Amino acid sequence: MLILVTGGAGYIGSHAVVELMLAGYDVVVLDNLSNSHGETLQNIGRIVGQEVVFTHGDVRDESLLTALFEQYSFDAVMHFAGLKAVGESVSQPLRYYENNVAGSLTLLRVMDKFNVRQFVFSSSATVYGNPAVVPVPESSPISTTNPYGASKAMVEGILRDLSHSDPEWRIAILRYFNPVGAHPSGLIGEHANGVPNNLMPYIAQVAAGQREYLSVFGSDYATVDGTGVRDYIHVVDLVIGHLRALEFIGQSKGILTCNLGTGQGYSVLQMLKAFELATGHKVPYRLVDRRPGDVDSYYADPAYAEEVLGWRAERSIVQMCQDSWRWQQVLIH
Ligand code: NAD
Ligand code: UFG
Repeated sequence: MLILVTGGAGYIGSHAVVELMLAGYDVVVLDNLSNSHGETLQNIGRIVGQEVVFTHGDVRDESLLTALFEQYSFDAVMHFAGLKAVGESVSQPLRYYENNVAGSLTLLRVMDKFNVRQFVFSSSATVYGNPAVVPVPESSPISTTNPYGASKAMVEGILRDLSHSDPEWRIAILRYFNPVGAHPSGLIGEHANGVPNNLMPYIAQVAAGQREYLSVFGSDYATVDGTGVRDYIHVVDLVIGHLRALEFIGQSKGILTCNLGTGQGYSVLQMLKAFELATGHKVPYRLVDRRPGDVDSYYADPAYAEEVLGWRAERSIVQMCQDSWRWQQVLIH
């Protein structure tokens, strides 16, 4: 089977390309390298022992996509390409809607033209907004609080309409919780630009001495120790969930919407302690005010993924921390 992986040079896409190739799929990567490096493709090649087929281009470029679909007979598309910084989406909404919504529309239009109707989409648990119930089931209402989340919810809506209009489509909408970690080889991982917004890369930079301390945002939440609770999932587990979803849609037409999380919440301080234990490095911290927009506790109900995909996350918090730390050391050198 030949799979087009958009955004395959990025953090999650690169890990997906590795697992796809190791599982025997043929892969073509399309990426504009706006948030990634060509070197990642060489490193994927080193992990899998085979060169990665790569096209440098943009998912919004319809003529480029048309040429690509003329050149290759794709069986399915995994669509990771997009912009993902929540804060940036608030200040640059048009850029986010253009990339995430218009990009997806262009891709779907070309797929439809070439009768390629298997599609795996990177959505986010952010579409649940501030959920009323945790663990969060897929039936939770959609409510977004920023343009990034809205762009994911819009594409989900487009995919539902598409599936209703033409039952030949086979679509998986995967809602990720908090992906962390890196490939255990130390060859690929996340390239965070500038000051990291996310907890795990920030902790890793503090442990490495690049930053003085972690600011823990809020210590008066209604959680085990007052700090925010999230569902951290190892990126390799996450992408294995994509392979299961690809197999599932190969067997069933229609649309599948599924959480990809562990079902287990960890607080900021629990993550920090786990990181110290797993790596032997101290992570100094200070308790500061809450970060606007954050919720206290947020983790997946993973039961549906297990039921329909036979998938559940297996990698421990220790592996998440050790793999993040290994990658952090690679980034420094
Ligand atoms: P990333 O930025 O590391 O990877 C995205 C890749 O897409 C990059 O290589 C970038 O260069 C490429 N890209 C962006 N716009 C493009 C375009 N118009 N045309 C072609 N290539 C383009 O991000 P990631 O963390 O790997 O996220 C992948 C997907 O998963 C995104 O859609 C993101 O919204 C979604 N997601 C990520 C998280 C997370 O915490 N990382 C959580 C939920 C959902
Ligand atoms: N946190 C800190 N200090 C930091 C960074 C984070 O205390 O320096 C805390 C946050 O307050 C939160 C937890 O660590 O309690 C996790 O924060 P992240 O920024 O790592 O992750 P979020 O859950 O806020 O957001 C992530 C992605 C979003 C996505 C969302 C929902 O960044 O894109 O998960 O899945 F929308």
